[in-house]
Amino acid sequence: MATTERALVIAGNWKMNKTRPEARELAQALVDGLKAQTGLPEVVLCPSFTSLEAVLQVTSGSALKVGAQNMDSRESGAYTGEVSPSMLTELGVPYVILGHSERRQYFAETNATVNLKLKAALKHRLIPIVCVGETVDEREAHLTDAVVSRQVAAALNELDAAELSPLIIAYEPVWAIGTGKVCEPEEADRVAKLIRGTLNNLYHKRDFADRIPILYGGSVNPGNIADQLAHSDVDGALVGGASLKPGDFLSIIQAAQKRAQAVAGPS
Ligand code: PGA
Repeated sequence: MATTERALVIAGNWKMNKTRPEARELAQALVDGLKAQTGLPEVVLCPSFTSLEAVLQVTSGSALKVGAQNMDSRESGAYTGEVSPSMLTELGVPYVILGHSERRQYFAETNATVNLKLKAALKHRLIPIVCVGETVDEREAHLTDAVVSRQVAAALNELDAAELSPLIIAYEPVWAIGTGKVCEPEEADRVAKLIRGTLNNLYHKRDFADRIPILYGGSVNPGNIADQLAHSDVDGALVGGASLKPGDFLSIIQAAQKRAQAVAGPS
């Protein structure tokens, strides 16, 4: 299907970086850099919890959106250190990243906890960016397709297509995250197609599968973004390291803008 029918999304995952003043400065540089631009992709900045409010303030009235990097699935209670979905919605945060591989690796998140979080996010009308991807060992054992389709199916367990309409999926091979080893664009597109096929198999609704944006993530930078976006099933990027540098992130956004314009054709 033509990519014009799906949103093009560029999300910046700032991870555990930037104090509040630094976050404000980075967000302001992006707001200034994108001022008066048209044909932008959906751009989502995901700072740490402590900077969410500051980044919301700086981006207010701009085209930039804000997301959290994680949340708990529960409503409230004795869960020291956790942040609930309503704490995010009350701040005015529209997006949330769920199941990032660093959450799975360092904080014991499983497919089951990602499923609980996804249900909670949708209930609270947050737009979820669900991350999936294989480790290097899984890739070397030729388990990529099995692992990724299992992660997708498990994350979406007990949810119907109508509930899942705001879903965004990010394919992030773990071996490509923060390593400088980018996944070949043809391979990222092949896995994106596999994810779309998994959605179709789960719901038997081609229009649903065709509407879900699938992003690529893992060592995206200004030098490789155009190639990643040159394929039909990759609808944007989840960017870590390069999203911390305003010049790099602006170049990545501009590459997405160009791709959107190329798909739309001359007006
Ligand atoms: P990276 O991180 O771009 O630094 O590889 C991507 C991510 O973790 O989302």
